[in-house]
Amino acid sequence: MYDENATLLGLKKDINEAKQGEVLYFNTPTSGLRKFYIESYGCAMNFSDSEIVASILAEHGYGPTREMESADLILVNTCSIREKAEDTVRNRLRVFNSLKKKKPALMIGVLGCMAERLKSKLLEQEKLVDIVVGPDAYRDLPNLLAKADDGEKGINVLLSREETYADISPLRLDSNGVVAYISIMRGCDNMCSFCVVPFTRGRERSRDTYSIIAEATDLYERGFREVTLLGQNVDSYKWTSPDGAERVNFAQLLEKVALIHPNLRVRFSTSHPKDITDEVLYTISKYENICNYIHLPVQSGNSRILSLMNRTYDRDWYMQRVESIYRIIPDCAISSDIITGFCSETEDEHQDTLSMIIWAKYSMSYMFFYSERPGTPAAKKLVDDIPEEIKKRRLQEIVDAQVHMSLDVNLLDVGKIFKVLIEGDSKRSEMEFKGRNGQNKMINFPKKENLKPGDYVMVRVTSATSGSLKGEITDIL
Ligand code: 5AD
Ligand code: SF4
Repeated sequence: MYDENATLLGLKKDINEAKQGEVLYFNTPTSGLRKFYIESYGCAMNFSDSEIVASILAEHGYGPTREMESADLILVNTCSIREKAEDTVRNRLRVFNSLKKKKPALMIGVLGCMAERLKSKLLEQEKLVDIVVGPDAYRDLPNLLAKADDGEKGINVLLSREETYADISPLRLDSNGVVAYISIMRGCDNMCSFCVVPFTRGRERSRDTYSIIAEATDLYERGFREVTLLGQNVDSYKWTSPDGAERVNFAQLLEKVALIHPNLRVRFSTSHPKDITDEVLYTISKYENICNYIHLPVQSGNSRILSLMNRTYDRDWYMQRVESIYRIIPDCAISSDIITGFCSETEDEHQDTLSMIIWAKYSMSYMFFYSERPGTPAAKKLVDDIPEEIKKRRLQEIVDAQVHMSLDVNLLDVGKIFKVLIEGDSKRSEMEFKGRNGQNKMINFPKKENLKPGDYVMVRVTSATSGSLKGEITDIL
């Protein structure tokens, strides 16, 4: 889930479970003199960042509210990945501004990628907000709020080469107390030609390994049973201790987190096909608590388009990585991101993407049509020449292929027994629990007495659709 231009299909991956524009709140409300209300859009990293922002605000006497009407401060954590995501945020800012007319002391702030991309524009030209804070400047938020209170401009969009917020303990927002995100790195150095992220989130940097382990250990001790390690490109995680004596790569980090406790499940996202190593795959296969699920965005199944996208791998390379995954981790589920209608894409090249969905047997994909982003290499050097009707038709074909594939792979699970972590009540009924298996597939099953979220159970799958599985408990662990 990134924005309404995105088409969600199949089984939602954990990092994108939250609904678009979700209002984040605390499980245990804290009181504060001033109330803040925060909405988040876009990727899991934004949701994770909102938890850092909440922690910073709570330290400065702000308390959360779920009702924007009662807030003194409204924040929107924004996404710039496609044009539609930005349009949605602008509409929300207009709604917030109508509240401000009735309550002039209300402060409105924009955080995240749009703040970084548009800088002072939302403040000065569009006059939609009072404060603008980029992804690396959240520590400055209390100071910017004080400035804005005094009628000064509250803007900080400086990007940093070091900031990882390693020492900030995120306030878990909207949490079920079972699963949590841990941000392990920030930024991206890849420069895929379509992508605005390297410009809005800056250079790649990895967080201190031991601050990650401390955060995961603390979560486990507080009853959480699953952590998702987050980064734009987790395979390029690398950390060197200040004395230079220790170097940790992503496979080693995974292993260290897995060793915290066998009952703490470990997930991660996102993997890059050019960087994912066999060492990572062997580490996944070695530890039962590292989930057998890899989100490996292909973007396109055609080598010429991949080269225009500057993805730095071709179709053959991608297929070899998928073969290695299935060889080393035979029951691994793989999911993907796909962009259709990229500059100059022909019908034959589009067919290559369709055939990749089938060949790679994706359990699900996030599918988008190309949206040109100002300032990106593609916007500068290539022509966005595929008409919108063609983009939409190709997207529909891709969606249809993925629906079929998701159903096929899910039907293969009927009769199998999986270890499932209970996350809460199923969406449909209080008589049922929902939980995911290692492959990140959501399974709904009737409750049994004395079980609660955070418990592990064995579940036999009894039926499947393209979106989820149904089952029954066979054993309690
Ligand atoms: N247009 C459409 N989709 C995009 N993505 C990134 N940039 C664009 C764009 N300009 C998609 C990619 C990426 C996912 C997070 O969003 O598929 O993996
Ligand atoms: Fe964007 Fe590519 Fe970096 Fe992902 S890996 S954030 S698509 S530049």
